[in-house]
Amino acid sequence: MERPFPTVAIVGLGTMGAGIAVAVARSGRRVLGIEADGAAADRALARIQEATAHAVERERLTPQERSDLLALITVGDRLDAAAAADLVIEEVPEQLELKREIFAELDRICPPQTVLATGTTSLSVTRIAAATGRPERVLGLHFFNPVHAMKLVEVVRTVLTVAQVADEAAAFARDLGKEPVAAGDKAGFIVNGLLFAYLNQAAAMYESRYATREDIDAAMRLGCGLPMGPLALLDLIGIDTARTVLEAMYEQSKDRLHAPAPILGQLVAAGLLGRKTGRGFYSYEAPGSSRTVAEAGARGASAVAGREVRSVGVCGSGTMATGIAEVFAKAGFPVTLVARSQEKADRAKGQLTRSLDRSVEKGRLTAEQRDAALALVTPSGQLADLAGVDLALEAVAEDLAVKRELFANLDKICKPGAVLATTTSSLPVISCATATSRPQDVIGMHFFNPAPAMKLVEVVSTVLTSADVTATVLGLCSTVRKHPVECGDRAGFIVNALLFPYLNDAVRMLEEHYATVDDIDTAMKLGCGYPMGPFELLDVVGLDVSLTIERVLHQEFREPGLSAAPLLEHLVAAGCLGRKTGRGFRDHARR
Ligand SMILES: NC(=O)c1ccc[n+]([C@@H]2O[C@H](COP(=O)([O-])OP(=O)(O)OC[C@H]3O[C@@H](n4cnc5c(N)ncnc54)[C@H](O)[C@@H]3O)[C@@H](O)[C@H]2O)c1
Repeated sequence: MERPFPTVAIVGLGTMGAGIAVAVARSGRRVLGIEADGAAADRALARIQEATAHAVERERLTPQERSDLLALITVGDRLDAAAAADLVIEEVPEQLELKREIFAELDRICPPQTVLATGTTSLSVTRIAAATGRPERVLGLHFFNPVHAMKLVEVVRTVLTVAQVADEAAAFARDLGKEPVAAGDKAGFIVNGLLFAYLNQAAAMYESRYATREDIDAAMRLGCGLPMGPLALLDLIGIDTARTVLEAMYEQSKDRLHAPAPILGQLVAAGLLGRKTGRGFYSYEAPGSSRTVAEAGARGASAVAGREVRSVGVCGSGTMATGIAEVFAKAGFPVTLVARSQEKADRAKGQLTRSLDRSVEKGRLTAEQRDAALALVTPSGQLADLAGVDLALEAVAEDLAVKRELFANLDKICKPGAVLATTTSSLPVISCATATSRPQDVIGMHFFNPAPAMKLVEVVSTVLTSADVTATVLGLCSTVRKHPVECGDRAGFIVNALLFPYLNDAVRMLEEHYATVDDIDTAMKLGCGYPMGPFELLDVVGLDVSLTIERVLHQEFREPGLSAAPLLEHLVAAGCLGRKTGRGFRDHARR
């Protein structure tokens, strides 16, 4: 294919337009900047000068390349200039009527072959295209802010856009050094469609006081490796913008999960739009600042004293049990590791030994530290050996009957005042608690896999858990260098309740043939900085495990939008469970 679009007009030189102008000129193309507001045009030129000077300082451009680049950009205020362009990219404010007027004008001004692209985030590309007499040559080109740093471009085709135009636009994006993904015309496209539904759930979770803003944000950063927590991200995006995008999504989907959480409307009405106004979910030092400040009445250290914990018992012999035993032993706690037989317990200790050996090989632990930790771990086949421990923690099979029987036994064996904890990720903690005669001493400690590496622990208190037990576990997590977050005893706790609906939405997107597995994964990694795309993650977690969690969430909240996507059910039924079976959303066996 020839190099597409040698001359590009950009209408509107605000945040996006100015950034795109530099990216296009860098690819050696002529840029015709069109900006209606004289002051905005001056600001845009100043920003273009500044950005390119910065690139020279960082040795990303030579002074000669910079002057060549600047010579390629001209700026004027008349839309007529677009007549000379092969491609016009519109980047004016997000108002449908304004965009439609500009497209109608452009249609008159530009020769018939000129391709017209809108930069809209949440408006219908089809409705914008319908303002022209050439909808087959109209598409969306959704760049991300800041344009110089973000590699992703969503290339949005309507039902009328011809494939060749979309292909040329994708080649153009690649030529700018970007990664194009193909999307259809649905509010939010791929990235925002998946991201904003999740942000909305996080806002609703905060609004219902299920967890604090700090805990919600820390849980998603530490539990999923996301670059930012959802509430901090909403503040960065702007609460008003988020609300507008969600309104547009809801208008199309009528999915209640897209209806903006009421708190977003309250914040907008109060002028608390996030960082740009100095306050949103958090308060900032000044408008535009990224530094948060504490507010009066913010949560301090718990007033309740915890119980003393000197020794720990761990029940189970799987990955989580050995990982958790390792965490406590490395922190200096004597650990009794109880399995269903002495032989199983010895094998679990063997696994723990290998994990510590690997840490020594990688230089994370000295041989002395390994030996000291190992000396603290006593494997046992007898639950009775937990009679003296201060904390008994179970990580046995995720089966309520098994766990309840274990708790009934712990109740008989453990000394009075011992804290009894479950690591369940999907069962109600209260059902474990009521198997004992001391539900006030029972709590959830949801570790993440692999426990030695993952810093997050969700500390789940039931309606019966006593405050000093919660305080004990929160303190203990900090002692073993984990980051505790507090939440109540409902399905999914914080992380899974926010993560799995997002994964399910991605499966729905695939099922509707809206975008491909690769494009959705690429879009979320490049558009949001996620460590893995949703399908990569589903294949790692296991499709069966994911389906179970989604069913539990749907059962708890009865929200129609939370019902598991049929495609996920079908893959599980077909035995495609992800990496562990060699095939899930991707075929791993052939790689
Ligand atoms: N800011 C973001 O993070 C972001 C990210 C992706 C996409 N978008 C989308 O990109 C588009 C542009 O957003 P922005 O943030 O750059 O807006 P902005 O307000 O920073 O810039 C818009 C510019 O368009 C100019 N303008 C208005 N009417 C015009 C006209 N008739 N002719 C020429 N210029 C005109 C304005 O003077 C202003 O300079 C919007 O559709 C937005 O939704 C924004």
